[in-house]
Amino acid sequence: MANMKLTDSEKAMLDGGEGPAVQKAMDLLVRYGEALGAERLVDTNNVCGAATAPSPWKLEIAKKRGVEQGLHAGFSEMNLDSDEVIEMPRVKVYTCQLIQQFGPDTASLHEGSREMLELQKQADSFFGARGMHIMATCTPYQVGNVPVKGEHCAWMESSAVIYCNSVLGARTNAEGTESTGAASLTGKIPYWGYHLPENRFGTHLVDVDVPVDDMMDWGLLGYYVGEIVQDEIPVLRGQMSQPELIKLKHFGAAASSSGGVEMYHIPGVTPEAPTVEVALGPRRGVQTLTYGKRERRIAYENLNSTAKDRKVDFIMLGCPHDTIEQIWQAARLLEGKRLHAGTELWIHTPRALRELADRCGYTKIVEEAGGHIVSDSCPAISRMMPRGTRVVATDSAKQAHYLPAITGVQAWFGSLQNCIDAALTGTWSGGLD
Ligand code: F3S
Repeated sequence: MANMKLTDSEKAMLDGGEGPAVQKAMDLLVRYGEALGAERLVDTNNVCGAATAPSPWKLEIAKKRGVEQGLHAGFSEMNLDSDEVIEMPRVKVYTCQLIQQFGPDTASLHEGSREMLELQKQADSFFGARGMHIMATCTPYQVGNVPVKGEHCAWMESSAVIYCNSVLGARTNAEGTESTGAASLTGKIPYWGYHLPENRFGTHLVDVDVPVDDMMDWGLLGYYVGEIVQDEIPVLRGQMSQPELIKLKHFGAAASSSGGVEMYHIPGVTPEAPTVEVALGPRRGVQTLTYGKRERRIAYENLNSTAKDRKVDFIMLGCPHDTIEQIWQAARLLEGKRLHAGTELWIHTPRALRELADRCGYTKIVEEAGGHIVSDSCPAISRMMPRGTRVVATDSAKQAHYLPAITGVQAWFGSLQNCIDAALTGTWSGGLD
């Protein structure tokens, strides 16, 4: 018997009134909510999760018993925490797939398993037919999923979660594959953490004493602040210029990588913080940190701590997935030029924006220079890179943080210009001014 307070319709789901998959999903949410101390569930009509990516295990079942059976089994195990294979029904609420694996259109770029690329394509059809929107990006807010202030969501992916809470003012915790799978079938998620207004006030004040203007500086600021505040809520004030989507996307991705930041406030910019006082709410005497020249250098050196060799093999742009403006900026720097022999460049963006890049002629410019615009995944998630990659250059603090740890490569972090220079010369010449 559940301790959490359930409505009649939630009880009916738990009793199996809407079929076995919904029953498993509700059972999972009740167990999860009770472990967290949630008193109830909350309705959500905005789920961003991860169900479609193939795995060796799913592939094995698909080979033995057919693709459908492999994907039903995968959803049961990974998204419903069920050993018993249950047929996945249509989702009940608006559900989007975040980043997944690369598809067959990237086969010429890396040595990843062809069978897995093909299974990803089949998974797109399987989950699409069950109502899942295959956005296949860590930036769903770039391609149509833009929840409004106060909306209860169930999102995964740290860079998306921090954007959702902070920039959009919608409400989500950093969910997992299981809870988002269950939310997609029930339209419910435990009401705890960032769903509660009293948990959304700032815990630290950050005085920014050095100008923060370009994307690289926003990444450095995020990386430093995340490392200090860990999973708490910083409120930033000081010498930051007006940010836009790109800078906040990079700031949040960096802060959620070095720490576990899921929400921040910038008074006058983010929607729940018209002033510092409102951002802090009832909290008084919070810890104040300073971000100055010294702290900026510490962040830069930490991000470049794995890089030794200035000869660069691979330039990775688009973490989190690039906006069309970022692709345009890269195309302008590449126009009429050629990549250095032996250097690869991938620009990652949602597939819908790739279509726009094609239409605007940016894809042609990037490809004529020898680079590629790719969708659906990224090297950190897919573990796929050009063959023989040893040294990576990136404009993303998040990718510089994760890629060496996950794949053992060296990584240089710098500006877009530094990265394009490395792509054209094969040599890293970036640094901090
Ligand atoms: Fe997105 Fe991959 Fe970066 S999921 S945020 S491009 S590590």
